[in-house]
Amino acid sequence: MKIAILTGASSGLGIEFAKRIRAAFPDIEQLWLVARREDKLREVSDTAGMACRAVPADLTADGVGTLEALLREEDPDVALLINCAGCGYLGNVAELDSSLMTRCIDLNVRALTAVTRAALPYMGRGGRIINISSIASFCPNPRMTVYSASKSYVSAFSLGLGDELREEGITVTAVCPGPMDTEFLDVGGIKGNSKMFKMLPFCDAAKVAEGSIKAAKRGRSVYTPRAFFRFYRFLAKIIPHTLLVKLTRT
Ligand SMILES: NC(=O)c1ccc[n+]([C@@H]2O[C@H](COP(=O)([O-])OP(=O)(O)OC[C@H]3O[C@@H](n4cnc5c(N)ncnc54)[C@H](OP(=O)(O)O)[C@@H]3O)[C@@H](O)[C@H]2O)c1
Repeated sequence: MKIAILTGASSGLGIEFAKRIRAAFPDIEQLWLVARREDKLREVSDTAGMACRAVPADLTADGVGTLEALLREEDPDVALLINCAGCGYLGNVAELDSSLMTRCIDLNVRALTAVTRAALPYMGRGGRIINISSIASFCPNPRMTVYSASKSYVSAFSLGLGDELREEGITVTAVCPGPMDTEFLDVGGIKGNSKMFKMLPFCDAAKVAEGSIKAAKRGRSVYTPRAFFRFYRFLAKIIPHTLLVKLTRT
């Protein structure tokens, strides 16, 4: 059975991905929706327009084990993996609750790596991996230092993995959106507390999902929505980060 696995499926960008998988990948027979809130996953199942399986799992706890066990049991052909679950918290490292910072690393770095590793034995030629990174991966963002470092990992991991998997015909796309109006902003204590977020143009989550799927189908290694952020990516490549970091405070 051909399946897609979508983490972070209960909210924000994940919901937008769930709505688009059937049309973009008509040969995928089942969509596995992974997040902690089972009630939300059931709602998403109803709007996806295809067979779904809710996989309630806390990826910062034993959730990866749950997914691994399910993969062993079902032995599916994983045609698409979207690592969308992520979180980030606003605040200086010296002031933020330590458990929030380690939670961010646990979800964005450890769980993304472990979910990918768990899915790979079930993926074959033509398989697609989409990893949700961020514009925060382009240069460190003071006051979201841990988050931006975690997303630098996601982008670097995606590029390296994409090269490792080239001969197997599996592509890896790192998606680098700017701010989106999702629960992320409330969860991270960002809404109303960041001048940078107030100033930046926002990305529409629906368009980000649409563009990410197109980029993955073309086998692109990086996709950055909006020309404004593509220009920022270019600047972050040519300006030393010791200078740029003075302007990138969140
Ligand atoms: N929104 C932005 O401004 C922005 C900008 C750039 C990049 N991003 C990235 O985009 C991705 C999607 O974020 P979003 O904006 O859609 O945020 P969101 O609405 O807060 O969604 C986050 C998703 O992650 C899931 N999640 C959180 N903790 C989890 C855990 N311990 N185990 C399993 N699932 C967990 C949440 O589900 P449950 O709570 O049900 O577990 C939810 O489905 C993230 O990787 C984020 O870093 C966001």
